[in-house]
Amino acid sequence: MLTLGIETSCDETSAAVVEDGTRVRSNVVSSQVALHAPFGGVVPELAARSHVERLPLVMDEALRVAEVGLEDIDLVAVTRGPGLVGALLVGVGFARALAWQRGLPIVGVSHLDGHMHSAFLQSPGIALPLLVLAVSGGHTELVLLGRDGRYTLLGRTLDDAAGEAFDKVARLLGLPYPGGPEIERCAARYGASSPLADFNLPPIRVSGLDFSFSGIKTAVRYRLERTMGVAQGSGLDPRASATLPPSLVLAAAAAFQRRAVEHLVDRLSLAAVQVAPASIAIVGGVAMNGALARAARDELAASGSAVPLVIPGAGLCTDNAGMIAAAGHALYRRGSGASLEVDPSLRWEAAS
Ligand code: KG4
Ligand code: ZN
Repeated sequence: MLTLGIETSCDETSAAVVEDGTRVRSNVVSSQVALHAPFGGVVPELAARSHVERLPLVMDEALRVAEVGLEDIDLVAVTRGPGLVGALLVGVGFARALAWQRGLPIVGVSHLDGHMHSAFLQSPGIALPLLVLAVSGGHTELVLLGRDGRYTLLGRTLDDAAGEAFDKVARLLGLPYPGGPEIERCAARYGASSPLADFNLPPIRVSGLDFSFSGIKTAVRYRLERTMGVAQGSGLDPRASATLPPSLVLAAAAAFQRRAVEHLVDRLSLAAVQVAPASIAIVGGVAMNGALARAARDELAASGSAVPLVIPGAGLCTDNAGMIAAAGHALYRRGSGASLEVDPSLRWEAAS
């Protein structure tokens, strides 16, 4: 069974062809990063307009790479939320028209279910119950996927998402958008073994399995303001960020990444002890972070855990339509996914 996936929830226009829910035949992503970079973040109107222009071309390319025609497609799966309303409407409108024209079944998918399913594309035989740490620009959640296919939400961010915090701290440091990869590069240049004494940040403390990133982001800002002689809380304008000494930028990036990673891994390992999953996955754009992957593997090994950890490869972590096709295929087989209503604040589709 061939599923055509369509993803337009934020700033990536993507289409994919996935066979039987697990074999990626094509996964084409057209990134709008360059379009939004001058603005330091995603501009919703520009994103929607760009999806309109790019989606037909991206779909043609996905079909070409998969060496199939529209007549070979059996199912259409499209992201209906969460995301930017205008951007979502473009994808859903396009998918609906296509499905209607070709007489194909169509399912509406939660983008979060999509991220979760990237773990199944990476490791089709992954055992349930699966503990998932979903970390991206819009969400930071710990979820358990049970053997019955239902989700239990174990923890979530109380303020900023992890990727959002990386992006905001990068902006404070005068680094380009998206900030996550930039922070990782700076932290690596600073050096893993450096003592960080020159930019010490307090550990993040939140009870239970929830997350918080706004305090650490503010701590970085106050620290930079102090160093630059700007009054606390007055903000650091982009000109001031551009004049930060390079060594300070590297130290700040390394200190922030260390605390953010420590916080994510601490919650993940606590949850692993509490729910004793059969496998663990880290998904979403922030899962691209090598320091996070290393720390998670080290922590699990140190605790004597033999539970397999799955971190999808590069093209499956950040937003892509392959994961939407995989999630859509699973929903269709369960007889759900009927709603095509665009919902910018949609959560996990089958959370219990
Ligand atoms: O999953 P994704 O592509 O889109 C959303 O659904 O939000 O995630 C994008 C986020 C951005 O905030 C980006 O800065 C972050 O993932 N990201 C990273 C890295 N690569 C991407 N964060 C930390 N380290 C990275 N290497
Ligand atoms: Zn995403």
